Amino acid sequence: MAATLVDWSRGFETGLDWQDAQHRELFDRLVALDRAIEQRQSREVVSRTLEFLDDYVETHFGQEEEWMQTTSYPEAARHRAEHEDFRLMLATFHHFVTRTRKLVLATKIRAELNQWFLRHIQTTDKRLGGFLKKMGAGA
Ligand SMILES: [Fe+2]
Ligand SMILES: [Fe+2]
Repeated sequence: MAATLVDWSRGFETGLDWQDAQHRELFDRLVALDRAIEQRQSREVVSRTLEFLDDYVETHFGQEEEWMQTTSYPEAARHRAEHEDFRLMLATFHHFVTRTRKLVLATKIRAELNQWFLRHIQTTDKRLGGFLKKMGAGA
């Protein structure tokens, strides 16, 4: 079943304040995107919502990647690769929404974005959050 984002759960938290606050913001922006599509907003509105999400994804991934580099995080390569997967899915989704009318495919990718987000923050990001806390970094 497709992952839909309904309510933020404390189970998503890594325990690192800035990381949790940013995940919360990303969650809200993904929900806003879902709503814009479900409410059949115009292509322009969906596209703007998507750009709003794009921007924040770059801010957030950039910050995590910087901390991984600063602390020589041993799982950095795998973590960055997961971020790349998300960037690629987001770019593909953007393409479908703005350039084509293949909305069935766009809906499938949207569900994958949600699934990726929930899986990534609950596993990969939690490991990074735990590591940074242990190092006394990233506070
Ligand atoms: Fe991450
Ligand atoms: Fe993250």
